[in-house]
Amino acid sequence: MSSSMPTFRALFSRDAEVYADAPGRVNLIGEHTDYNGGYVLPAAVPQRTRVELAARPDGTVRLWSAQSQGEVASYTLGEERRDGTWTDYVKGMTRALAQHGALGGFDMRVDSDVPVGSGLSSSAALEIAAGRALRERFHLRLTDLQLAMAGQRAENELVGAPVGIMDQMASVFADTATALFVDTRTLAYARVQLPASAAVVVIDSGISHRNAGGAYAERRAECEQAASRLGVRQLRDVGIADLHRVSQLPSPLDRRARHIVTENQRVLDTVDAFGRGVLAAAGRLCNESHVSMRDDFEISVPEIDRLVAIAQATDGVYGARLTGGGFGGSVVVLADAAQARTAAAHIVNQYAATTGNAGRLLVQPEG
Ligand code: GLA
Repeated sequence: MSSSMPTFRALFSRDAEVYADAPGRVNLIGEHTDYNGGYVLPAAVPQRTRVELAARPDGTVRLWSAQSQGEVASYTLGEERRDGTWTDYVKGMTRALAQHGALGGFDMRVDSDVPVGSGLSSSAALEIAAGRALRERFHLRLTDLQLAMAGQRAENELVGAPVGIMDQMASVFADTATALFVDTRTLAYARVQLPASAAVVVIDSGISHRNAGGAYAERRAECEQAASRLGVRQLRDVGIADLHRVSQLPSPLDRRARHIVTENQRVLDTVDAFGRGVLAAAGRLCNESHVSMRDDFEISVPEIDRLVAIAQATDGVYGARLTGGGFGGSVVVLADAAQARTAAAHIVNQYAATTGNAGRLLVQPEG
């Protein structure tokens, strides 16, 4: 966002007509539960993606992003084709939104401070910011919930990432002051207040992650196989009381399903712990979630395990876990508000000293 960046006018020789933005997200707990019809508890992060847009009289779309700093990219509406670049998220949105009204061509300038590859869902932030601008400019008839669903379709159908709906729901509905409890089967959601003495810290491991990678799709397929062998529609329909049946599944389906079943319960228990103001209990659930992701769902990497262990051993920390899709990305730390900044600095330093990796502090309380 430096001032040397070309403005909309410099790029497209006219002024923008609409402006929209949307945040990235951090998931506090409930990982890989969304495509199993389960529960999630994300919050918005302060980092946002901003788009400026002006309609064109033809069917051409021209796109430019301050982060890629490349040439203006272009495509024709109705001829959206994946090319593996950031523009796929916008193409996915124009294709998904076409069923909600008549889109025309447009010029779009994108700028974002949501880091890419850190597990904070820069992709959902782009989809939702672009979707908001398109909805406004082309008077599309769609609700916020339909906007989130369009974002998920953009990923599933054009980008080719079989993601659930958590990130798009969070980008549309979450704020930075509360957590958003979502039942991903019904799409009902509720804001959950964190106790005043709690602070959320997010630290990037420096190991980049990607959802379109085969491992995410493989986990999803394993969950679907487990559900089908258990005779349920989705793993959401299996409760803690049924874990003995889960343990009879062949490996690794037993462990994959156990993660989902126990993680769903941990989300409910975390909401309860926040409601009662018992941060120690929320922290324990966070730590248990990490163990489950590491050993049962196998989506962690050694650097993340190290970062989590350092965080968990730091004064003022209630709990820490990998957040997001996994295989890299960030950790989320639940800390005591009064000690959070000191704890965060300590964790980043220790991580660098013991692994040689530069961790990056992405979110911490203001002050
Ligand atoms: C990615 C996906 C989400 C969700 C998480 C894991 O962020 O986009 O739908 O599955 O991974 O919880």
